[in-house]
Amino acid sequence: MLSDIIDVLADPADGTALSGADDFARLVSESGHSYDVARQGYVTLAAGAGLRHQGDSMEMVLARETFLSRGHFAPFVEAVTGGVHDALDEAGVPENARPVIAEIGAGTGYYLAHTLDDVDGARGVGMDISVHAAKRLASCHPRVGAVVADVWERLPMRDRSIDVITVVFAPRNAAEFARVLTEDGQAVFLTADRGHLAELREPLGILDVEDGKIDRLIEQAAGHLTPVREPELIEFPMTLDKESIAAQIGMSPSARHIEPEELGRRIAQLPETLTVTGRAHLIRMGRA
Ligand SMILES: C[S@@+](CC[C@H](N)C(=O)[O-])C[C@H]1O[C@@H](n2cnc3c(N)ncnc32)[C@H](O)[C@@H]1O
Repeated sequence: MLSDIIDVLADPADGTALSGADDFARLVSESGHSYDVARQGYVTLAAGAGLRHQGDSMEMVLARETFLSRGHFAPFVEAVTGGVHDALDEAGVPENARPVIAEIGAGTGYYLAHTLDDVDGARGVGMDISVHAAKRLASCHPRVGAVVADVWERLPMRDRSIDVITVVFAPRNAAEFARVLTEDGQAVFLTADRGHLAELREPLGILDVEDGKIDRLIEQAAGHLTPVREPELIEFPMTLDKESIAAQIGMSPSARHIEPEELGRRIAQLPETLTVTGRAHLIRMGRA
């Protein structure tokens, strides 16, 4: 709930502290701005003219929910939760200190909810630019507060307030992450690597991940964040039926590039099940 994380939220317009008003029907800032809390429990924290993008559509969020609920990405979720544990351990933050974990581009909250189940007492900020995702985030875990915001703008979080930031297959803003992380806080990134879903690329005509993505991520963060460990490769086979394959494509940008009918035709030509590679790197970074 938003009341769990109110102490780390900030006015997107000027960074001043927010507090709940009218029994958390609104959040109001010290400078007098007011942000309505939606009926579903999330709040949109955007300054000025509001958000410039919409993020994932409802169809993409539903496809993501279908795919993830089948457990195909279990090794990824275990790796992210393990990374958060390691980050908290290295910073010397005990679980009973109610650490704050903020997931950016959190989608349905699959990763954040799993991590909060594992880290007793931790609180979660589930942030996404998509309202459809935020509706899911608001109910994904009792200790999550859901926020609609754009990662490319000033994050609506206070300086030095977040113990761990997680980003799973979503955009990163290293300068803002460095601002909101605590002194010893860490960012945990899971980033797809070349070879991820390789077996689907040719038959379905979807693009591969570009080469050198990990190096570029580290370069782009330079001056703000720096790796605390060598990136860790997570690679595993998944057995996917056609429904899971359709859900996987439906939750990715490929969904926007291939006509649904054509995609259906290509999926129909696949064998009943296919072994498909999941491949990503887990990168942990601290403030530079
Ligand atoms: C590939 S999905 C990953 C979702 C989730 N992390 C997962 O792996 O299940 C990318 C997510 O980032 C969100 N997103 C895209 N652009 C964003 C932005 N500028 N600010 C915040 N979130 C954004 C999308 O709405 C989407 O939910």
